[in-house]
Amino acid sequence: MTARLDGPLKVTGRAKYGADHNLPGTVYGFLVLSTIANGEVEAMDVTAAKAAPGVLGVYTPFDSFDLKTPQSPVLGETWVPLQDRAVAFWGQPIGFVVAETFEQARYAAGLVEVTYLERPALTSFEEGLDAAEPSPREDEVVLADGVESIEDAIASSPVVVDATYRTAAQNHAAMEPHSAVAVWEDGELTVHSGSQSSSMQANELATALDVDVSKVHAVNPYVGGAFGGKGRTATPAFLAAAAARLLDRPVKAALTREQVFTATAGRAATRQSITLGAERDGTLIALRHDSVCTTDIDRSFVEPTSHATSAEWYATPNLAVSQKIMPLNVPKTTFMRAPGEAPGSFALESAIDELAVELGVDPIELRRRNNSAAPPGKDLQWSSKHLDECFSLGAREFGWADRAPSGRTEGDWQVGMGVATAMFPALRFPAQVEIRLGDDDTAVVSTSGADPGTGLLTVMAMVGAESLDIPPERVTPRLGDSAFPEGGMSGGSTGTASTSTAIMAAATEATDALLALATRPGAPFAGEEVSYADGRIFGEEGRTMAFGELLRELGRESLTVTGSSAPGEELTKHSFSSFGAQFVEVKVHRWTREIRVSRMLGVFDSGRIINPQPARSQAVGGMIWGLSAALHEELAIEDSGRTANGDLASYLVPVNADIPDVDVHFVNYPDTLHNSVGAKGLGEIGTVGVAAAVANAVYNATGIRVRKTPITIEDLL
Ligand code: MOS
Repeated sequence: MTARLDGPLKVTGRAKYGADHNLPGTVYGFLVLSTIANGEVEAMDVTAAKAAPGVLGVYTPFDSFDLKTPQSPVLGETWVPLQDRAVAFWGQPIGFVVAETFEQARYAAGLVEVTYLERPALTSFEEGLDAAEPSPREDEVVLADGVESIEDAIASSPVVVDATYRTAAQNHAAMEPHSAVAVWEDGELTVHSGSQSSSMQANELATALDVDVSKVHAVNPYVGGAFGGKGRTATPAFLAAAAARLLDRPVKAALTREQVFTATAGRAATRQSITLGAERDGTLIALRHDSVCTTDIDRSFVEPTSHATSAEWYATPNLAVSQKIMPLNVPKTTFMRAPGEAPGSFALESAIDELAVELGVDPIELRRRNNSAAPPGKDLQWSSKHLDECFSLGAREFGWADRAPSGRTEGDWQVGMGVATAMFPALRFPAQVEIRLGDDDTAVVSTSGADPGTGLLTVMAMVGAESLDIPPERVTPRLGDSAFPEGGMSGGSTGTASTSTAIMAAATEATDALLALATRPGAPFAGEEVSYADGRIFGEEGRTMAFGELLRELGRESLTVTGSSAPGEELTKHSFSSFGAQFVEVKVHRWTREIRVSRMLGVFDSGRIINPQPARSQAVGGMIWGLSAALHEELAIEDSGRTANGDLASYLVPVNADIPDVDVHFVNYPDTLHNSVGAKGLGEIGTVGVAAAVANAVYNATGIRVRKTPITIEDLL
């Protein structure tokens, strides 16, 4: 285990996040947000704002900078502000005021007078259902030979469970509000702004500002929370960069905590109907999953609850999944930790529990009976799957055998246990890594990427050391700078697999290049059979030389190579996923109906665990997020479109007192069919299934089935 290299910097406040950069001559931007949810900005009177002390610029849709809309295969379209007068949700950025100080900018922003042409806003989930439309994700249907339709398969099933589930909208509420410091020098832009990929952020800014990407430098060595919320470039970065170019001054723009709740993007609310048809022994005959998710009027994101769960998880001969989207006048939706899987697993794993109750079968046993060797209807088998072991290890550790079908009581508390399966696809992105070997026997490993608290920087040092066969202390990892080779993104739980595989490729390049140098005519090992180990070149008759010594001998300061990796042929041979088993114990108070989670255990098959400490932290964080979704979080939108709880005083997230002992185990089987380092993702799977495990435990404790999140006291009266 290696402690996080950036840990001491972070806990002592020496790590500089985006807005911590204070450049000489910096001026400050403050956003103006809409106060209607649907309509048009008819006019904006900026006279008073422009005359206010210190004001340097007031930008509105009437007097804006031209920003183009970035588009990428991974992120899709990213919205850019102030390009038209349309207002599609309450709290939408519609203006930007820049002044000499933050206080002056904020004061002047309050002086901007906006006149709207207001239209009725569609903000309610129930009313929006009529407007639900097909999503770009095609419906998926698998039918066994001779079966005409999913309805027939369900009708012929001896046991049927049919239920509808709801999950709440969530805001990311990252600790670091979205912010940026932008500066132009000689036609080149540098932006300090937390993001999940410095190179992707540079690309988006280059497109938006219509400059060559070689002129854009995105820097984000530290990111204060992301998980999808900092995938797409945030509004402050576009505005700060555009204003800095016009004013020829560094511009700092940061959202207030309240602005984060509307001017960024969050998780959609969903409604999901699931029908399970099964044999009396629990074997699935049919699985139908129909989902609707909310989105904003631009349809910026689909929360793929059906496709990400039911289309992948269980062996079933008959399957039908559909996904609709419902555009509302609500803040934008985007990726949030396990998009699709997190709310989708609440529905699927609750339904599986309902089937277990119906059949009187142990919920773990029911899952075992429907274990899949491949996604339903697909030929490609999972490259590695140790889900059964996750459940048996977890059951042993958690004391599952003590669970009674109707829970138990402890004084005034009703106590129950619940489980759920967790899955998240094992993915990776193309990545490039540079390795520079120095004449002092050290190595520098660099890639653009980002470490949004995942521990990727430390993993880079460890995998770099392992691949170069030198101690980690001699490896300096560098990350979070678009000047480095393009390194994918910390999204889709891909960081470790993508970056580590590229490091291994670069290390092979480096040792090959070293050996070639060593054996050149006139070089110390000219004409010899050589090999590399332990940071050294070995020649004939026991002659050996550390690589630094060889470089010195050759009069070179360093040797630099680049390695790359990308998903390839393996995709034609197997399906890839991480797996896990979530165990939760809850206590519900007999009289107050207060719900406390008293114990949680997650057991995960995420391939090889490279660094147990941050891996465990990732899993614990994900599980807490799942508990939060189950019992606390709901972004509430009033009929007017205004957020009812858009601040951390009223948007509930768990505090320490809400979190019990959280235990994590990894089964730790390297999956080298997926990639050469054997790691599968674990950033997102930690949260998957937790909300269902909580609901299932609540049922076990109380006999009350709650089919919505968050589960509140009122649901248990
Ligand atoms: Mo993650 S939701 O892919 O950043």
